[in-house]
Amino acid sequence: MASEEQNKALDAWQTSARYWDKYRVLIAEMFAPLTSGLVEEARIGIGQKVLDIGGGSGEPSLTISRIVGPTGSVMYTDPVAGMVETAQKEAGKRGLTNIQFRQCSADDLPFADHAFDTAVGRLSAMFFVDPVTAVREALRVILEDGYVSFAVWGPKEANPFFSTVSDVIDQFVEVPREDPDAPDTFRFALPGKLAGILENADVKNVIERQLNFQIKAPISIEQFWQLRTEMSGTLREKMAGLAPAQLPNVKQAVADAAWKYFAGGTMSFPAEALIVSGKKSSI
Ligand SMILES: C[S@@+](CC[C@H](N)C(=O)[O-])C[C@H]1O[C@@H](n2cnc3c(N)ncnc32)[C@H](O)[C@@H]1O
Repeated sequence: MASEEQNKALDAWQTSARYWDKYRVLIAEMFAPLTSGLVEEARIGIGQKVLDIGGGSGEPSLTISRIVGPTGSVMYTDPVAGMVETAQKEAGKRGLTNIQFRQCSADDLPFADHAFDTAVGRLSAMFFVDPVTAVREALRVILEDGYVSFAVWGPKEANPFFSTVSDVIDQFVEVPREDPDAPDTFRFALPGKLAGILENADVKNVIERQLNFQIKAPISIEQFWQLRTEMSGTLREKMAGLAPAQLPNVKQAVADAAWKYFAGGTMSFPAEALIVSGKKSSI
């Protein structure tokens, strides 16, 4: 990826940071099963030193901080200043003292070899600039018997939380042809793709687990629309390309596509993710 595109992507995340902070309670609730999946696959427990790569507004770091307890620690990382700031502020509010924060990119980790027991990334691996280098970096900084584990989205068709908005907007704006390897929400949706990257990076005993769950939150369809169009840099960019007169039609079309996932004041979308994990050493 050209550095101009990289900067554009990081700028978009910088703008996203305030919205990921705004919706942090909902995000924690909606994506909690992904954190549980990572904790399970990476065998995270009391007393461990865990590295979180691309921690965004603070998950899974904030949850793992409680799991590892005072004898363990979490190193939160993210390349985007706004994300680091909001995550750090939240940890302070919660009085969590076993988390440290570093602004850095996955492919250049500023840590010594063997500094952690385990490395995890929730919904961040698909945005790594050079995923093989990033996974090699994760391996370098964990202990010989450590695990790496990454949660990524499965296919768009199995994730209407995304497609009910993006497919509709794509009918109204011109969509450039997308490079399937470019950083994107569904970059690793194809089974085996991220697993192959872990194998190329020399991760041992690679396992890909499909995780089906419900993305649930106590919100209305109007709040869903707002949350989606604020949190996603791609959607913000596409929305900027709409004429104001088109907006009511787009919103109506999204409501038509998404209404069946809302009932009794609750949103519940079926979702599919992959948790791809492995060990540094096969012994
Ligand atoms: C979808 S968010 C997920 C955030 C958080 N882990 C969560 O699950 O709520 C993706 C995160 O990846 C981060 N990211 C983007 N490029 C990255 C890179 N090269 N290395 C590490 N993280 C990156 C973004 O800044 C953003 O915070």
